[in-house]
Amino acid sequence: MVQFTLPADSVVREGRTWPAPGDARRPRTFVVYRYDPDSDENPRRDRYTIDLAACGPMVLDALIKIKSEVDATLTFRRSCREGICGSCAMNIAGRNGLACISAIEDYSGEVGIHPLPHLPVVKDLVADMKHFYAQLASVKPWMRAQSSPARDRERLQSKEEREKLDGLYECILCACCSTSCPSYWWNGDRYLGPAVLLQAYRWLADSRDEAAGERLDDLEDPFRLYRCHTIMNCTTACPKGLNPAKAIAGIKKMMVARSF
Ligand code: SF4
Ligand code: SF4
Ligand code: FES
Repeated sequence: MVQFTLPADSVVREGRTWPAPGDARRPRTFVVYRYDPDSDENPRRDRYTIDLAACGPMVLDALIKIKSEVDATLTFRRSCREGICGSCAMNIAGRNGLACISAIEDYSGEVGIHPLPHLPVVKDLVADMKHFYAQLASVKPWMRAQSSPARDRERLQSKEEREKLDGLYECILCACCSTSCPSYWWNGDRYLGPAVLLQAYRWLADSRDEAAGERLDDLEDPFRLYRCHTIMNCTTACPKGLNPAKAIAGIKKMMVARSF
């Protein structure tokens, strides 16, 4: 398993230290990446020691405590706090994950926190997802059908057809997989990466969609699809237990099947 610590092209300096409160019963240090491209020449790592005895159990709780009680300038994304929205994706102790469902007690010693690797940084732990979303839009992640459903009915699926979407529809687009994929690090401008390819397969596998041919044509490219070298970091990284590498293999199988 490859471990990641820093975004690309970073010279990270040691920054400020905030000591534990004098009465702390369970002090714990979080070493957090800080960078504002508009004003900082270089990124730095700030060290915050907080009292876990007065903190919720998750890494996101620690970040919220730091922001509320220690340093209001710390910037990170979060919304649902229950592993549904994907916005708190970040690199925690060298692995990508969702801060809101990552228990502090699962880490030992100082906990290093960085933004998702190999994406531009907007500020601190907020990675720039514009390119990722543009790639998602490029696979047209919605149902495309020419035929009309019967007037009084929805488009129906058999139980078996519906089951083919299990392991695909649950993706929350957090990008933990794509930003853990070495092929995406090096060729992210042209390779779609595991998250977007899983989304592409989600529609290829949907019995109600009628655009499989066009979708496969769009993916038939040495970079968009075929930069996946089955390294499997994506599947290891997924905090929802999904298997993007299997979805990519599914697309490749469909490519082969249609060539006969
Ligand atoms: S299996 Fe493919 S998509 Fe997943 S990490 Fe490896 S190269 Fe990237
Ligand atoms: S496949 Fe998993 S890691 Fe990748 S974007 Fe979806 S939920 Fe996140
Ligand atoms: S805050 Fe929504 S997934 Fe973590």
